[in-house]
Amino acid sequence: MDVKLRIHRFVEDKKWVQDYTLPVTVGMTVLEALTQIKEHQDPTLSFTCSCRSSICGACAVRVNGNAELACEILVENLMKRYDTDELTIEPLGNFRVIRDLIVDWDPKYARIKKIKPTVHPKAEFSAEEGCKQSPEEFNKFKKLAGCILCGSCVSECNKNSWNQDDFLDPFVFVKAAKITRDSRDKDPKEHLKAVVDAGLWRCFNCQECTAKCPKGLDPAGAIEKLKEATFKMGLDDNVGARHAKAIYDDISDSGTLDESKLNIKSEGFFAAGLRAPMALRLMRVGKMNPLDKHPVNKEIDTIRKIVKNAEAASKEEN
Ligand code: SF4
Ligand code: SF4
Ligand code: FES
Repeated sequence: MDVKLRIHRFVEDKKWVQDYTLPVTVGMTVLEALTQIKEHQDPTLSFTCSCRSSICGACAVRVNGNAELACEILVENLMKRYDTDELTIEPLGNFRVIRDLIVDWDPKYARIKKIKPTVHPKAEFSAEEGCKQSPEEFNKFKKLAGCILCGSCVSECNKNSWNQDDFLDPFVFVKAAKITRDSRDKDPKEHLKAVVDAGLWRCFNCQECTAKCPKGLDPAGAIEKLKEATFKMGLDDNVGARHAKAIYDDISDSGTLDESKLNIKSEGFFAAGLRAPMALRLMRVGKMNPLDKHPVNKEIDTIRKIVKNAEAASKEEN
């Protein structure tokens, strides 16, 4: 059985799609297919790889629109998944392309630096002994340390596709969640403040990053945990945190959202005033009436129980 790979090429400002056909062998990964093409059909095809064991993160590409680790994913499984003998391979999304499937990581490393990503050790630190850490303390961030910087999460991040300038890459939030949980660090608040300033509350919450992570990490969940931590550390004087708090209060009080007051509570009276034309339009078509009494959901007791259980579950996780 043959597979046709439609590979997006990019060389010195010239873009095109080039087709290659090759026989599929049992257990052949996408990386093996790319390597065969390079060795036997077209030495000009460029891509990156190193470990070939899902450890280094260097080989991630997009296959049929979804980020994958090329050294992990099997060609035969992709053909079954998409029910086709034709696969389209592109470089990761939301990266600048250097050549063919090779993308530029330099701007991403610069963005990691925004969160001050290294441990600022406590006073007990010494070059000989380091800092003491119990297994329980290590386990608090162990999973987050499994990020291999493959970039699959940012490739499919909808906020990054919309605008990268006021946000970070999902893996940067994973790194931030890791460092703010590391007991050896003397000031998690400093990292957290940097994360808030770099766009923590601008996440669209679309969950694409979590769905695409080949290591089973949960960048979207890490973002939610960081938001939670901002309340505990008193970094909640911003629109995003006030908006979340207003929703929490409405749901706990009545089980329904009071849309007419939500913006005022989140943005303040004057900033919300700028939205007055939209509010007037909503009132005109009967979608909103500030004079209406805010309704209480008849299932309010159940809703309060759900809120309580969610809070208890979150405490246990921490
Ligand atoms: S949940 Fe947030 S960070 Fe993750 S992909 Fe969506 S917008 Fe990006
Ligand atoms: S969080 Fe997952 S998808 Fe994102 S870079 Fe790390 S390992 Fe890759
Ligand atoms: S080559 Fe290292 S993860 Fe694929």
